[in-house]
Amino acid sequence: MINQNKEHMNIVIVGHVDHGKSTVIGRLLADTGSLPEGKLESVRERCRKNAKPFEYAFLLDALKDEQEQGITIDAARCFFKSDKRDYIIIDAPGHIEFLRNMVTGAARAEAALLVIDANEGIQENSKRHGYLLSMLGIKKIAVLVNKMDLVDYDKTVFENIVTEYSAFLETIGVTPLTFVPISAFHGDNIIGYSDHTPWYEGKDVLSLLDSLDSEGASDQEPFRMPVQGIYKFTKGGDDRRIVAGTVEYGSLSVGDHVTFYPSGKGSKVKSIESFATEKKTTIGAGYATGFTLEEQIYIKRGEIAVKTDDVIEPISATGFKANIFWLGKTPLTIGKSYNFKVGTMTVSGTVEEIIRTLDASSLDASVKAVVDRHEVAEILIKTNKPVAFDLSQGLAKTSRFVIVDDYEIAGGGIILSQMGVDTVANEHKIIKNSRWQNSLVNRQQRVDRLSQIPTLVLISGGKDSGKKPLAKALEKDLFERGRLAYFLSVGNIKYGVDDGRQDQAHILQLTEVANVLLDAGNITISTATDLTREDYGIIDNHIDGHKCIKVWIGDGGDINEADIIIKSEELALGTNIITDFLKDQGIIYKGA
Ligand code: GTP
Ligand code: MG
Repeated sequence: MINQNKEHMNIVIVGHVDHGKSTVIGRLLADTGSLPEGKLESVRERCRKNAKPFEYAFLLDALKDEQEQGITIDAARCFFKSDKRDYIIIDAPGHIEFLRNMVTGAARAEAALLVIDANEGIQENSKRHGYLLSMLGIKKIAVLVNKMDLVDYDKTVFENIVTEYSAFLETIGVTPLTFVPISAFHGDNIIGYSDHTPWYEGKDVLSLLDSLDSEGASDQEPFRMPVQGIYKFTKGGDDRRIVAGTVEYGSLSVGDHVTFYPSGKGSKVKSIESFATEKKTTIGAGYATGFTLEEQIYIKRGEIAVKTDDVIEPISATGFKANIFWLGKTPLTIGKSYNFKVGTMTVSGTVEEIIRTLDASSLDASVKAVVDRHEVAEILIKTNKPVAFDLSQGLAKTSRFVIVDDYEIAGGGIILSQMGVDTVANEHKIIKNSRWQNSLVNRQQRVDRLSQIPTLVLISGGKDSGKKPLAKALEKDLFERGRLAYFLSVGNIKYGVDDGRQDQAHILQLTEVANVLLDAGNITISTATDLTREDYGIIDNHIDGHKCIKVWIGDGGDINEADIIIKSEELALGTNIITDFLKDQGIIYKGA
């Protein structure tokens, strides 16, 4: 197992099928003495007995069987060590697994080895994998030109591949660290120099890896920890909750004040709880950890924990522009609903626009209505809830996401910008569907400006249950928090536009007026006595696709329809209950 206290580095190995990934890993394990005692001999012996040629891949299979018994290790990872540090090498069996691991944090690589068969030359996947690495922001890429034995260690073959592949990488903006001519099978230039390539003056693979700087010590960066889960201590009435996740950037110490995005909730760090190591007061990037807070605030999986004082804040938004890599069996389509996993947050949403597409190996560009398999594309995504993220040019890891189509990961990408910044033209589509006169300011721009999703908060309950005082208190509370909120009193409607009775025509009029306020971006608060399921149906149908949050005070009524039920004895806490709910739903959030 990896020693948590010794420096370690995660690397990923990619390349076209059969170009020698498993053999490179096997060699690294064998030649660094990282294999269990006798393993190599026993696998060689078994091959001899069965009259099969020995393969390093068999060695890895044999290791996997062993490792799978210990549930903590997943089958795609192997460990080896140099004098300098421990390595975890991830054999990405396919694009999808690779994307999933990179985005969910299951296995993050900071450097990559890309294997190309000297004899077969550059293949489609050699290019696609190169693209994928660059898109995920992995900058440390070394290209291993393998099977040099099959081309008689010919310098010209090597140099031709260097020239051709460098040209490809250049077009996608990648500068590889270096190219190494190797024969993984025979062990040339893996550890130590090979006599077969006297013309090669660069490093062997292990020295090359050892020469890379690890990102582990990036404590100068802003702190980012996507929340994986909230865990309760269960023993003896202990009511502390641990906020758990993996630190992507920066460091956090006891006493620091943290803010969670997008909800905007925050508190001070009381303790740091790390697993299987001694108690710490500071945690740094790359570690799975947890912390407790001084106040019990309700936060959820998917939020990003940030140090409140950090200069660079993440972005919370309901849409973004992204660069994606599509692997789905069916093409990515505008308007279809997908799930987007951004860090640990899953939100549903749709693709609003496909700006351009590109074949990931030929780099042929086109403008099309769909994105086909193995294409990359620049697209606009609209989400149904605000989500927090960073931009790829700043903090790449917290800008990554995957696209889930029908329960399967079908693509992945990085976020380039927040929607609304340079996408105004596109947004006018939304306005065209509206019955209002075209405005030059659209719904999305208002959402982005105000960091709130216009919503009708409709408070109902029995007569004299305290609806109006609560509505007024809520308006004041939201206003004082810097929100745009408006209490639309039923009384005003009554005297203004109707004869004073609350009937269904009256409810329709309420929604008419509410629509104007909602269109202007307000959290619109209103009250009505004893609303029924039918009334709610009318409201839902008439508020122009805006959200309606139904609050019920006291007992009775159609409380199945209510989003929030406030018991009479809780009334004093009513505004807190509602604002917390609005935060949890992403209706009000902390913008950048
Ligand atoms: P997949 O996992 O199926 O994508 O393949 P891979 O990239 O892991 O390739 P693997 O390491 O299994 O090697 C494929 C074949 O190439 C095996 O038969 C290896 O023995 C052979 N091979 C790998 N490296 C070399 C080499 O340096 N020289 C020669 N001659 N054969 C090699
Ligand atoms: Mg393999």
